[in-house]
Amino acid sequence: MVKVEIKDAVSFLGKDYDEYEKKALAAFRTLVAGDGAGNDFLGWKQLPSGTPESLIKECEAVRDDWASKGIDLVVAIGIGGSYLGAKCAVEALSHNFSRQLRRKGGMEVVFAGNNLSEEYLAELMDLVAERNAACVVISKSGTTTEPAVAFRIVKQYLEETYGKAGASERIVAITDAHKGALKTLSTQEGYRTFVVPDDVGGRFSVLTPVGLLPIVLAGFDVREILAGAAEEQKAISEASAENPAIRYAAARNALYSACGKKVEILVSYNPKLQYFAEWWKQLYGESEGKDGKGIFPASVNNTADLHSMGQFIQEGDRVMFETVLSVEKSSREVVIGSDPTNLDCLNYLAGKRVEHCNAMAALGTRIAHLDGGVPQIGVSVEKLDARSLGALFYFFEFACGVSAYTLGVNPFNQPGVEAYKKNMFALLEKPGYEEASAAIRKRI
Ligand code: PA5
Repeated sequence: MVKVEIKDAVSFLGKDYDEYEKKALAAFRTLVAGDGAGNDFLGWKQLPSGTPESLIKECEAVRDDWASKGIDLVVAIGIGGSYLGAKCAVEALSHNFSRQLRRKGGMEVVFAGNNLSEEYLAELMDLVAERNAACVVISKSGTTTEPAVAFRIVKQYLEETYGKAGASERIVAITDAHKGALKTLSTQEGYRTFVVPDDVGGRFSVLTPVGLLPIVLAGFDVREILAGAAEEQKAISEASAENPAIRYAAARNALYSACGKKVEILVSYNPKLQYFAEWWKQLYGESEGKDGKGIFPASVNNTADLHSMGQFIQEGDRVMFETVLSVEKSSREVVIGSDPTNLDCLNYLAGKRVEHCNAMAALGTRIAHLDGGVPQIGVSVEKLDARSLGALFYFFEFACGVSAYTLGVNPFNQPGVEAYKKNMFALLEKPGYEEASAAIRKRI
């Protein structure tokens, strides 16, 4: 279960917190009743308990089929919400050095279609050429350029190498049930497909096949992730001021509106959580950054970033607060030894666990940043495992809905994402964009 500590935020807010607590409670009721803006995109709320066993078995059938063909590399193609959930889960649950150790079970999952770097794609194909590869292409709309470009390249390689029929056994598409270019292509080519539900937006889709299939292929237990999410769903279901999701939403909105804190930094002390922060940034950035409002979501991974961003957070413009995401228990134990020469002057730590040093670094940083005028919210889980990860996914999704309604924006649309796409299409001279092409060329 996810715990939330807000005392080091409330100390900056005093009575102002109470007003936002009331607003967050009202927002919670709106989200639960399903009568707020964007309420046709609430399908994610039921995923933890509503995901059928048959869907997990279908994912496992793909894994078993590909394993029987000796496939050892899966290219998962997608961007934004069609990529970040799976990427974050694979990073959070994998051994830090699984690649170098080559002892991880399951297939190796690598990600593509999340950039337009030519070098990235060329080097991806160097890897694909050395391995026995398959591909999962994920796009809800089926028209996003980045994954479409990557998929065309991977698909052509698979067809040249394994023939058209062989390639279609190595491609799975996850897309809309009825419409879009990827849906049409999949029907024509006979790809196995999974559906992105109509009522689940990209950034809320990690517990749909968008996240579940790549996570299964990477060898992790999605039943545990779903079970953790279901436990958390129950834990944050009460309309109470003690509800952790309401406390988080109230504290961050109060800091933003009453205290001028426009930037929230998600802080972690475990490198495996780096991509969790990327997932969280998309979730909160796309859900809240609209109508001229929103907290800018940023992240640091400590202690590394204490040596890069620490100076700014301690003494720079006081625009930020921190949400520290902690894992209470390390799953491994490393004790610092004694050294007779003590030339590194570390004998005072002999016999202590590295985790103790990490915890003291986090505590020291919290106190220093508080002294520096940076309010602190604490979010913690006991362990970093599949169950806790599921709990964190659901906690942050639900709290995001509550928070965005508290702020007064529709959490479930993203009209601003279209602006760059229109310009890119105009510059690439996509058919249908002739007028926009002429207009944009005059500006450059
Ligand atoms: O959250 C969102 O809806 C977006 O970030 C999308 O996930 C992203 O643009 C990818 O879209 P699609 O899955 O349609 O290719």
